Amino acid sequence: MRILVTGGAGFIGSHIADALVSRGHRVVLLDALLPQTHGRQAPAYSSGHELVIGDVRDADLLGRLLRDVDAVCHQAAMVGHGVDPSDLPEYAGHNDYGTAVLLAAMHAAGVGRLVMASSMVVYGEGRYTCAEHGVVSPGPRDPAQLSRGWFEPACPRCGSALTSGLVPEDARLEPRSGYAASKLAQEHLAAAWVRQAGGSVWALRYHNVYGPRMPRDTPYSGVAAIFRSALERGEAPRVMEDGRQLRDFVHVRDVALANVLALEAGVAAGGFVPLNVCSGQPHTVGELAEALSRAMNGPAPVTVGGARAGDVRHVVASPQRAESLLGFRATVGFDAGVAEFATAELREPAASAGPAVVTSSSAAGD
Ligand code: UD1
Repeated sequence: MRILVTGGAGFIGSHIADALVSRGHRVVLLDALLPQTHGRQAPAYSSGHELVIGDVRDADLLGRLLRDVDAVCHQAAMVGHGVDPSDLPEYAGHNDYGTAVLLAAMHAAGVGRLVMASSMVVYGEGRYTCAEHGVVSPGPRDPAQLSRGWFEPACPRCGSALTSGLVPEDARLEPRSGYAASKLAQEHLAAAWVRQAGGSVWALRYHNVYGPRMPRDTPYSGVAAIFRSALERGEAPRVMEDGRQLRDFVHVRDVALANVLALEAGVAAGGFVPLNVCSGQPHTVGELAEALSRAMNGPAPVTVGGARAGDVRHVVASPQRAESLLGFRATVGFDAGVAEFATAELREPAASAGPAVVTSSSAAGD
């Protein structure tokens, strides 16, 4: 197959490009080299591929690139929590308008197969069960309670403690940040395109991706890169909340594998199929910090409390549906993945100011 990979010079897109070529596919990469994640030039590891520097919102460019393409793997996006609402136009522009232009161009070019990067952020909080009320959807956490160190969401009906479980693909979707809202809008646009044009979409809801080529710490980076960058400076990783928040840290090569399998699987039955892409081995953020500190022989993590506006407590999922539909199973374990990540090549983006954090001295949020 010949596949257009948007965001193909990026953290995940570049691994997808390598994996596709190693399986005998041909790729053309489109990347805008956004300054949030890139330096001024295309990364060296993209030089072996056909790379077009350009914006996914450029319909004319897309029209030319889609001429001899069998499927599109859409990774181009602005990611991360961001700084504050001034980021919203950029998230909506790159992620939503960009996806809309891509879908229209695919329709015009007669390309009907899309694999797209979605995210577990579309769920908002993960899955919670109340002993009395069953599965419940706790709302956003109260900044005043966060500032007092109450991090666990409570039952919205009776206020009791909740049990955290695995979030399924058909869970209620309740994005909590501008980025999350833009990822859900991408899914809605793609699902509408399927209904209108009859195409096929695998929407891969990535959990917390880490690994080589991850951008260094910026407001747009994931926690693994933030911890790794702190340790490189000789500083302790700063763990928010109490460090017991659960995530599924999934290695970037496994995420690339899930994309390759979705592209090779062909048409998604029913047209639009969302899938959790995760390792199935949840870990706490505190465990990640400790493992990385040990692997880098650095200072022990410091638990600092607080939470950023829009932060959620636990999000973990079962990889079962991706395994049954795509044959996907993560291959890189947490210990091996973190040990490799301790010395892996990171990407050097232009840094900027950090996001607002609710701390014990400032409970206002942003
Ligand atoms: C992350 C990504 C999101 C991605 C999703 C699924 C970011 C910023 N967020 O959401 O883009 O779509 O996974 O892959 O890239 N934390 C600390 N110390 C810090 C920073 C964060 O302890 O310095 C904690 C946070 O409180 C949070 C956890 O780490 O509990 C994870 O944060 P983050 O990496 O931003 O990820 P998510 O919000 O889970």
